[in-house]
Amino acid sequence: MKQAEIILASRYSATELSGALLLGKYARATKEEYLRKQLTWQCSEEAHHALMWTKVLRDKNLPLLEIHEKNEYFSSATELKNEIEFLVFGHVFELRADFHLKVHVGIPSIDPDFKKIMEQIVADEDKHLDWISTYLEKLQKAGNTEIANYIQKWGDIENKTYMEFIKKLISSDDEYFQELGKAIEENIPSYEFKWKRFLQA
Ligand SMILES: [Fe+2]
Ligand SMILES: [Fe+2]
Repeated sequence: MKQAEIILASRYSATELSGALLLGKYARATKEEYLRKQLTWQCSEEAHHALMWTKVLRDKNLPLLEIHEKNEYFSSATELKNEIEFLVFGHVFELRADFHLKVHVGIPSIDPDFKKIMEQIVADEDKHLDWISTYLEKLQKAGNTEIANYIQKWGDIENKTYMEFIKKLISSDDEYFQELGKAIEENIPSYEFKWKRFLQA
């Protein structure tokens, strides 16, 4: 496994853990029983993903790196006002994570074990995307007008953050990061921005 992959596996693991911590925080705070169940379950899923990324490093006797950098998207999580906004925040992020990993998994230089773990993790994401979009849809149908505003806000922050990330990958002097950055750039035109359907409601 190349150094770039050690960095990425460590970063993906750290991001899953940040997600799990936020999910757990909202699971502990919610007044709604359905959300308590769903958020507890998804907290465990993301924590498990964090562990799965570390497994590929442990099996090869490679280090799990200390990750401190926070991108603009996660740094802005402190602005979240309520659990609905948190669900929007999570949903917009997971839509992009799904796209990102599906591109990463296809690059020719990927380590086969890293790829295997990535495929397993991607397969779990559909369930996360499904329940949150169904829940938000129901709220919108019942008259919630805040969701569209939250979607626009987090959609814009996410897009800006991701574009900066791609630029960084492409301008890196590491060949693996460049390969990943170029693969993402090629696939960007096919990104569907599925969250936009919440704007039309
Ligand atoms: Fe995950
Ligand atoms: Fe997820």
